Amino acid sequence: DVPAEVTIWEVGPRDGLQNESGIVPLDVKLEFLERLAVAGLPVVETTSFVHPEWVPQLADAVELFGELRRADGVRYPVLVPNSRGLDRALESGVDDIAIFASATETFTRRNLNRGLDEQFVMFDPVVRHAVAEGLNVRGYVSMVFGDPWEGPVAVDQVVSVGQRLLDMGCSQISLGDTIGVATPGHVETVIRAFVAAGVPLHRLAVHFHDTYGQALGNTYAALRLGVSTVDASAGGLGGCPYAGSATGNLATEDLVWMLEGLGIRHGVDLRSLADTSVWMAEHLGKPSPSAVVKALAR
Ligand code: HMG
Ligand code: MG
Repeated sequence: DVPAEVTIWEVGPRDGLQNESGIVPLDVKLEFLERLAVAGLPVVETTSFVHPEWVPQLADAVELFGELRRADGVRYPVLVPNSRGLDRALESGVDDIAIFASATETFTRRNLNRGLDEQFVMFDPVVRHAVAEGLNVRGYVSMVFGDPWEGPVAVDQVVSVGQRLLDMGCSQISLGDTIGVATPGHVETVIRAFVAAGVPLHRLAVHFHDTYGQALGNTYAALRLGVSTVDASAGGLGGCPYAGSATGNLATEDLVWMLEGLGIRHGVDLRSLADTSVWMAEHLGKPSPSAVVKALAR
């Protein structure tokens, strides 16, 4: 059985644009955000309050938030790694944040300049402060299904990292296939392991990159188990600058097409979304990799 309704967590402006070689102008980002809200996306991950030299593509986070006109009923979460990032986010009036952990030692070092255990020392005061300020806090777990340096990742290790984020105060954790190597059976194993550890399904989200073309199949496996929050990026933009082999996320259009077919409510206007991705692709100077965007643009 699949859920009657799915919350699509749009990550294009953050996961998508963090990985572009060029820096997208502020007014284009603002129009992108506005168009995504108009298309009906309920959650639009907007940017990251990380070190500007680590991710220059999103160095304009404060200005972006200053000019963003938030649509009613739409959530605009941002990535925050540490207290400095939280201070900048709070000054910008953010009310939804996501911390981002890794299930592997190597990626934690490369992405956060910290060891696996040290990442929690960095996150702990962030989550406590954010929750005290009334913010919602999501936790990402990266490298859940494989790591380019370490290879396979033990399911126990993934569950333990996820559980620590939930215990810390995250309302939901998003299971990230950062490099897109997962397959549906593996997805099932990991989700069942969280359920066996007592984690309710509404506290889990899935975040698939489409490097090996498995993102939609993986999503279906997660839906069949009852997961009802799915991350995706408009047009399939995305990747991680600190995980070289990563390509774009599951395209939101591909997800919406499948949800339509399954009769699952999602609230998104596919045509308006696909037009937005075509418009964005023109700005980026390269076509969207999404099969659904290509089919609709014909
Ligand atoms: P660090 O160099 O260890 O930082 O970087 P630090 O704590 O030693 O501080 C050094 C200086 O940076 C200090 O300045 C800080 O104030 C400043 P100084 O006192 O020397 O003048 N600083 C900051 N400035 C602005 N904003 C901040 C900030 N933090 C420190 N937030 C740090 C550690 C975590 C900051 C760095 O490693 C970083 O920014 N990493 C972010 C990497 C990133 O954004 N990766 C992509 C997102 S993860 C992803 O895409 C995966 C995901 O999609 C899920 C999936 O696919 O699996 C989520
Ligand atoms: Mg990602």
